[in-house]
Amino acid sequence: MTSQVSPDAASGTPGDVVLRFDHVSRIFGAFAAVEEIDLELHRGEILTLLGPSGCGKTTTLRMAIGLERADRGRITYRGATVDAPGEKIFVSPEHRDMGMVFQSYAIWPHMNVFENVAFPLRTRKIEKSVVAAKVKEFLEVVGLKGFEQRSGMQLSGGQQQRVAVARGLVANPDVLLMDEPFSNLDAKLRDQMRVELKLLQRRIGASILFVTHDQSEAMAISDRIAVMRAGKVEQIGSPLELYTKPVVPFVRDFLGHTLKLPGRVVGREGANVRVDIGHGVTLDVGGMNHMKNAAAGADCLVTIRPEEINVVDQSVEAGANSVSAGIRTLLFLGQQYEAVVDLAGGRDLLIFLPRLVGWREGQGVRLQFPAERLQVWDAE
Ligand SMILES: Nc1ncnc2c1ncn2[C@@H]1O[C@H](COP(=O)(O)OP(=O)(O)OP(=O)(O)O)[C@@H](O)[C@H]1O
Ligand SMILES: [Mg+2]
Repeated sequence: MTSQVSPDAASGTPGDVVLRFDHVSRIFGAFAAVEEIDLELHRGEILTLLGPSGCGKTTTLRMAIGLERADRGRITYRGATVDAPGEKIFVSPEHRDMGMVFQSYAIWPHMNVFENVAFPLRTRKIEKSVVAAKVKEFLEVVGLKGFEQRSGMQLSGGQQQRVAVARGLVANPDVLLMDEPFSNLDAKLRDQMRVELKLLQRRIGASILFVTHDQSEAMAISDRIAVMRAGKVEQIGSPLELYTKPVVPFVRDFLGHTLKLPGRVVGREGANVRVDIGHGVTLDVGGMNHMKNAAAGADCLVTIRPEEINVVDQSVEAGANSVSAGIRTLLFLGQQYEAVVDLAGGRDLLIFLPRLVGWREGQGVRLQFPAERLQVWDAE
């Protein structure tokens, strides 16, 4: 069956589910590139698929737009089924009315910049003056004002990528799929484009399914992130939720830095799990307890984000949950220092120190671990 998705269904309130995957799989031979994934893209949000190379991000986007067929499950767009192999339903890409920015930023080299960006409007039979105004608007957004007449062949990789972004946005599609759209830009331009995209998305209320393997990009741009690994979705949530409340070690380690202290459960102290981390130090863990069974004697891993540790001079009195350490190396990063500190027993930790305090290598310090910031996991 091939049918047009009714555009009437596009009206709706923000927060509605505009695109939905139910138990969707894509299998190449015997290999499941995407396995049983569930996703909901809400109207007006940026949902990002984040995961390492080969985890199935592009395959998921290609199924959303219809360039790839699901082998199992159901994809629903604006309330109508667009892919359900069990029922032999498949709606082709040209009838899904989505925009896509491809990973390879394919633009047409034989067309000039204006024609590249105008292309999605041409197929919609829109008045010439409106096309010109729209192209101008979106070229400004991506910082390519004045490039209208340049041919696609005379552009740098980063410029081609920006043309592709403008082309994806220009027709104001109900859903925009973006596959690593900024990967060929230099760091400064990438940061700028992220902000521009976010502002633009807020202004036009676009619903965007975004793909990246860059965790800081995902955290900066997304309303929600789905962390993928080997074809499966491991966890979905807001960037803050995933960063502060990861439910599996993969998510914890994929987003930002995590400090890990191996130890052994000693027992309970009220609601806290008490852990012996060796060399006479015990820590009370008051944050998430991820252990299947945190019984006394169980090997475990205590974790904390580096910025959650308070670092004070060693002259400050040792309180509960504190460890003495020495600064071995101090790297100046601009807004802060990155430091390797030595703990008793030959262990070391990579931490961050605020710039406006006079740190020096060799200095003795005390690391204070707020109990509610510590989490405990089964030993790895
Ligand atoms: N047409 C195909 N035939 C066979 N295997 C495929 C095909 N397309 C993708 N794959 C495999 O499926 C897996 C997922 O590929 P996909 O392109 O979705 O990954 P990705 O997450 O987008 O990775 P990257 O970050 O490198 O772009 C990979 O192992 C890939 O080799
Ligand atoms: Mg990809």
